[in-house]
Amino acid sequence: MDNSARELNVDRPNSARLYDVFLGGSHNTATDRELAERIRSSAPRWSLGAQLNRSFLRCAVQYMASAGIDQFLDLGSGIPTVGNVHEIAEQHNPGARVVYVDYETIAYNTSRAELADNPNVTIIKADLRDPDSVLNHPETVELLDFSRPVGLLIVGVLLFIGPRDKPGELVATYRSQLTSGSYLALSQASDDGLPPDLQTEIDQVVASYEHADEQLVLRSYDEVAGWFSGTELVEPGIVHYPDWSPGQQALDEYQRSCRYGYVGVGRVP
Ligand SMILES: C[S@@+](CC[C@H](N)C(=O)[O-])C[C@H]1O[C@@H](n2cnc3c(N)ncnc32)[C@H](O)[C@@H]1O
Repeated sequence: MDNSARELNVDRPNSARLYDVFLGGSHNTATDRELAERIRSSAPRWSLGAQLNRSFLRCAVQYMASAGIDQFLDLGSGIPTVGNVHEIAEQHNPGARVVYVDYETIAYNTSRAELADNPNVTIIKADLRDPDSVLNHPETVELLDFSRPVGLLIVGVLLFIGPRDKPGELVATYRSQLTSGSYLALSQASDDGLPPDLQTEIDQVVASYEHADEQLVLRSYDEVAGWFSGTELVEPGIVHYPDWSPGQQALDEYQRSCRYGYVGVGRVP
């Protein structure tokens, strides 16, 4: 897989930096902010969806760490923000190990700088569409022991993997590395059953991402459910972003209406 195309290009917005804008971060450029603003005005709930996606990620890590998971592989990890995976995992187990994977230069550089003093956590610059480059990377091999349970996180990233790259096969390849007692968390944007106002919003978002480095692919419940095969879904199953965790119960009605996609966690039996 050619990563050279992923060298820093600030002339075109990309998914890592747009997400950073939606989360209120500062690692983004004027071009990213301009497109994010256009998305915000045509689809105000999309940035809320990004925040709910991030909050699902935190809840899922918390859930896995409470279940004893002390090593994580985070594919498409993004630019560091508040409540990163290793920070949550370390609250449960100070020696927790995390390998972050991202192919975007700013995500890689900022994570690398932040993690410089932490021997148990690293980021590798790799394309998740090339599982060998991730799984056989020397830092992955050094930090993660796949003979013990691992928490595999594929959150907020499969929506950028087009059908040509066969996301189902990719998920299955990574999942096949997981031993019994491991977990898989993933999220995916969808327009299943949206009311007309949300459908209009998500159509605008898809059109806006045509101007970004990665385009956005929406998927059905059935396709997402297929990605969990070989795992047992934990409660409450595959649900919309706002519905996954008890921590989300404080959400108001507007936040609850943000039903742009699915999230779920499965356990390898
Ligand atoms: C929307 S962010 C999600 C960040 C984090 N996983 C979360 O859910 O909060 C998507 C990230 O996936 C990365 N990404 C997209 N396609 C990728 C690929 N093929 N390989 C590695 N990283 C990828 C982007 O650079 C970006 O940082």
